[in-house]
Amino acid sequence: MGGSTFGKILSVTTWGESHGPAIGCVVEGVPAGIDLCEEDFVYYMDLRKPSRSTDTPRKESDTVKIMSGVFEGKTTGTPVSLMIVNENTHSQDYSNIKDVYRPGHADYTYDAKYGFRDYRGGGRSSGRETAMRVAAGVIARKILDTVGVIISSEYSPVPEIPELDSMGGTVKVVAGNVPAGLGEPVFSKLDAELSKAFMSVGAVKAVEFGLGTKVSEMLGSENNDTFINVDGKISTVNNNCGGILGGISDGDDIVIKAYIKPVPSILKEQRTVDKDGNETTLTIKGRHDKYLPPRIAPVLEAMTALTLADALLMNMTSRIENIIKVYKK
Ligand SMILES: Cc1cc2nc3c(=O)[nH]c(=O)nc-3n(C[C@H](O)[C@H](O)[C@H](O)COP(=O)(O)O)c2cc1C
Repeated sequence: MGGSTFGKILSVTTWGESHGPAIGCVVEGVPAGIDLCEEDFVYYMDLRKPSRSTDTPRKESDTVKIMSGVFEGKTTGTPVSLMIVNENTHSQDYSNIKDVYRPGHADYTYDAKYGFRDYRGGGRSSGRETAMRVAAGVIARKILDTVGVIISSEYSPVPEIPELDSMGGTVKVVAGNVPAGLGEPVFSKLDAELSKAFMSVGAVKAVEFGLGTKVSEMLGSENNDTFINVDGKISTVNNNCGGILGGISDGDDIVIKAYIKPVPSILKEQRTVDKDGNETTLTIKGRHDKYLPPRIAPVLEAMTALTLADALLMNMTSRIENIIKVYKK
């Protein structure tokens, strides 16, 4: 079974390894008639690029090429295929993890599953794969723009990191102007889909909505969001629920917080085992991030956009009057 496709009506399939010739994605279900050109990707790709002292020194231009699905500047309704050529690989840096497992990374589990792995730069388990999610997210944002949805994020400040080590942090994503009614109970509840979207990003270890884990210590009377009428629009006083009730958006901001673990590849010597089970020590070479929240924030925004755009399209079938509006002449 493959696990490289996300989404139902609007779906993205990503492909490629960190040190392969290129990475790419195919976005299916994109409505025809959306303005799309290669320059549209530049702003968001730049947000994900390493730029801080805690980011990997691997520098890539991340220029997105549109390979299909666009004609004369507009989407044609056919699959949109996007590609980025990998330019700055130093595969030799990874030779010492060929047979030795990095603690905290996916080396051991990929071997356990597939029997061998592309160890160069972490192969498919590398954060590099998330570049294509950001690219696909640009298309999702264009769909959401038509109804005014705005997605933003903030991350915990970059800390002082002890020498040769890494640290974890958080990213909060907010989606505003989301129409009430998105989300498909019961297995495709909006919070379930967003959780899957977030947890599919490497190093994300927990996700919460609104007050999140704090609700387990509250009284019902404190946690329940009081409904109010703001100029004819049903709203709530506190939005403790983070904009989703019963798996359906309630029209308030959707507020999601992700908890990110410390980058596993640290420069400190660590105890580990090799693929034959012999205990050994490992000093990791290669170019690695030290603090992921700034790099993951644009990825989580993109995953939010992909999830909401898919939910928006799916919601079109929720009422018979929508069908009549489209088809009855
Ligand atoms: C944008 C991004 C960049 C990442 N950069 C690195 C890195 O430089 N070094 C590293 O060891 N892990 C990095 N990671 C984390 C690993 O990909 C991740 O920890 C690994 O695949 C294991 O998955 P898990 O942490 O979800 O269990 C990055 C993840 C993302 C999303």
